[in-house]
Amino acid sequence: MKILITGATGLLGRSLVKTALSKGIEINFLTTKKSKINCLNKAKGFYWNPSNGDLDTDCFLGVDIIIHLAGASISKLWTSSYKKLIFSSRVDSTRLLFSCLKQIGSRHKIKQIISASAVGIYPSDFEKKFSETAKVYPSTFMEEVVNAWENEVNSFDSINIKVAKMRIGLVLSNYGGVLGPLKIPTAFGLGAAFGDGKQGQSWIHISDVVGVFLKACNEQWEGVFNLVAPNPVSQTDFIKALAKALNRPYFLPPIPKILLKILVGKMSSLVLDSHWVSAQKVIGKKYKFLYPEINTAMKNIVDNS
Ligand SMILES: NC(=O)c1ccc[n+]([C@@H]2O[C@H](COP(=O)([O-])OP(=O)(O)OC[C@H]3O[C@@H](n4cnc5c(N)ncnc54)[C@H](OP(=O)(O)O)[C@@H]3O)[C@@H](O)[C@H]2O)c1
Repeated sequence: MKILITGATGLLGRSLVKTALSKGIEINFLTTKKSKINCLNKAKGFYWNPSNGDLDTDCFLGVDIIIHLAGASISKLWTSSYKKLIFSSRVDSTRLLFSCLKQIGSRHKIKQIISASAVGIYPSDFEKKFSETAKVYPSTFMEEVVNAWENEVNSFDSINIKVAKMRIGLVLSNYGGVLGPLKIPTAFGLGAAFGDGKQGQSWIHISDVVGVFLKACNEQWEGVFNLVAPNPVSQTDFIKALAKALNRPYFLPPIPKILLKILVGKMSSLVLDSHWVSAQKVIGKKYKFLYPEINTAMKNIVDNS
């Protein structure tokens, strides 16, 4: 099997590339930085620039599946120009992949595209648990981005490529992501939740992200899938689990919502929004989670840091 990965040099991509190579899967990847073309050992890099429609179509040679992870980070300050980049890096990059494949027609043999998406497509809700069948009516910036990104990926269906969209939750990894900025204050006993701390955190260990992506490749999954562990927790319990794994106390009251809103404006939704998301569909596909519980997942991350 040969997979083309976009965004392969990022947090999820690097883990996925490493595991896929160890299973004998060949990897091509697309990078927006010419300096990174040789940065992944044993994987073959190609250059693209979605903002001006540049893409080296040799990247498609012999490829069976595309895994599309590319997207500008959402954790940098949301200025209006950066918001445009968050949107275009996902939507325009998807459109470019599609138009190149349409152009080369039968000279490729790609059967499936698996695209990253995010649980941020669901509205923030403190009670309701969302499954993949929930109707979504985007009203916030993040909901609009994810919805447009998923709609763009749907176009591959028209050229007979199976489409799978992975609505990923908060990824736990020791190389960065959500735990990066939380680990330092928590290690000093200064970990605290935000708002009232009751917001749902639908998290997933990075090993399970990789495990589900590879199972989806092997079994040619189609449709929408929530990529979250079966046991989401409140934000207070999330920080408590991190403090416990670090062997540190957890005693501070949550940081008030208003303070965050003053400091980072609408971006505060990243930590104040609540998402309780169901993993039942992935469980129904007989995926066995390596880390279904927050305490063992956090301990594994901290022990391997
Ligand atoms: N990590 C999470 O908790 C999480 C949760 C939900 C959804 N997701 C989604 O899953 C995907 C992968 O996440 P990640 O954590 O691995 O992200 P990441 O570490 O930020 O990596 C994303 C990769 O996208 C590429 N990229 C950056 N800016 C780009 C641009 N303007 N145009 C095209 N490509 C660009 C970069 O690769 P090059 O520099 O090589 O081009 C980068 O390595 C993202 O789309 C993210 O939104 C992640």
